[in-house]
Amino acid sequence: MTETRHITDDASDVVVFLIDQHQQLKGLLADVLQTSGEERQRYFDQAREMLARHETGEEMIVRPLTRKAPGGEEVAEARMAEENEAKEVLAKLEKMDVDSDEFVSTFTGFRQSVLDHAEAEERDEFPLLRQNTDPDALVKARDRVKRAEKMAPTHPHPSAKTTTANYVAGPFAAMLDRARDAFSKD
Ligand SMILES: [Fe+2]
Ligand SMILES: [Fe+2]
Repeated sequence: MTETRHITDDASDVVVFLIDQHQQLKGLLADVLQTSGEERQRYFDQAREMLARHETGEEMIVRPLTRKAPGGEEVAEARMAEENEAKEVLAKLEKMDVDSDEFVSTFTGFRQSVLDHAEAEERDEFPLLRQNTDPDALVKARDRVKRAEKMAPTHPHPSAKTTTANYVAGPFAAMLDRARDAFSKD
């Protein structure tokens, strides 16, 4: 398991920053399947927190830029549809016992969809963004995403962690609300 996943400081623009996050997410999603019990729950909570920040940043800061590119509207819509579908599956997943067979099979499909979605962004969206956006705007977009992520609480309050098997991070919808708040304040 990878223990340290720091966002690199030399991320030169928003595309580099987001690709770096894709790598971190990939690691977290793999960790969920490789662990069990409390540890699995912890990785699952971390993955949900990270997804909330990452997808909200893409939706609020990156997608408006994508839409301005030729053919960008269609690309942006396709990515939004994938993200919305993932949110629905996540809402189902968080109601399941992480050690159940149902969780493992649903999460395995979910993980693949998230990976396919990230790949589609890297293949279809990010190059379009790079080709049609002023480089300064992409650096500014990175700074906005970074600032908003600092404001968004990324971890549940320490009191939410109990000594028993229950590690409560709150539902994904609440994480999204917090992330949206942070991004809209910027
Ligand atoms: Fe995305
Ligand atoms: Fe992404």
